[in-house]
Order: sequence, then C-alpha cells, then structure tokens
Amino acid sequence: MKRIAKLSIFIIAELATARVFAADQYTVELYDTYCKSCHSVNGAGVPVAFKKNDWDKRLEKGIEKVVDNAVNGIGNMPAQGFCQECVYEDFEDLITYMADPKNKE
Ligand code: HEC
Repeated sequence: MKRIAKLSIFIIAELATARVFAADQYTVELYDTYCKSCHSVNGAGVPVAFKKNDWDKRLEKGIEKVVDNAVNGIGNMPAQGFCQECVYEDFEDLITYMADPKNKE
C-alpha cells in the first residue's frame, strides 16, 4: 500500500482590501507626458480626462478590457498611448486617474 504524502498547499489569497486610489506623482507625470495631449481635448471620440460620463461608459466593459484596449490600441488610440515605459499597472492607474473628476486641476 502506497502512502500518499499529503502536500499542503497554502494559497495566499490577496486580501480584498478596498483600495483607495490617490493619484501618485508618477501617474500624473505619465499622464502629462503621454496622454494629456489627446485626452484633454474633446473630439475624435476621445474619452476626455476627468469627464466622468466619458469614462463611465468605457468602464462598463470592465477595467481589464479598458486596459487591454489602451495597451493594444483602439480606433485612433495608439497602442500604449506611445508610452513604452508604461506597464499594466500604470495603465490601470492612468485610467483610474483620468476617470476621476476630482483630479481635474
Ligand atoms: C494620439 C492621441 C492619443 C494619445 C497620445 C493617447 N490616447 Fe487614449 N485614446 C485616444 C482616442 C482617439 C481614443 C478613443 C478610441 C476609440 O474608442 O475609438 C482613446 C481611448 C482611450 C481609452 C479607452 C479605451 C476603451 O476601452 O474604451 C483609454 C483607456 C486610453 N485611451 C488611455 C490612454 C492612456 C493611458 C494614454 C497615455 C499613456 C493615452 N490614452 C494616450 C487617443 C489618444
């Protein structure tokens, strides 16, 4: 009879802590450098930064899909918004930043 060694697998679940987003300086710099030129002006179907309605519509798809579209490009939105240095999390942060009217200067 074989002994079956029990393997204990500990799955570390990420705590679902409510993440309060405060725009950090790095996100603001990325936005100013790469996204602002297009996303601060109306027209060409651009979701305008800090305009809640524009972003609510987009975010109905779910943040993952919206990040994917930013990374791969969509319509006249260039892939990664020309930001080579941006990683996945940066796009999440940038989108969260642009979607919040409170960040409007
Ligand atoms: C050359 C202009 C341009 C630049 C630069 C640009 N965008 Fe866009 N972006 C667009 C346009 C135009 C759309 C609308 C595309 C459409 O839906 O047809 C768009 C749409 C988006 C969307 C919505 C995607 C969706 O799923 O609906 C996101 C997110 C986004 N941009 C993020 C960014 C970020 C982040 C940056 C900076 C790193 C950036 N964009 C830079 C033009 C630009």
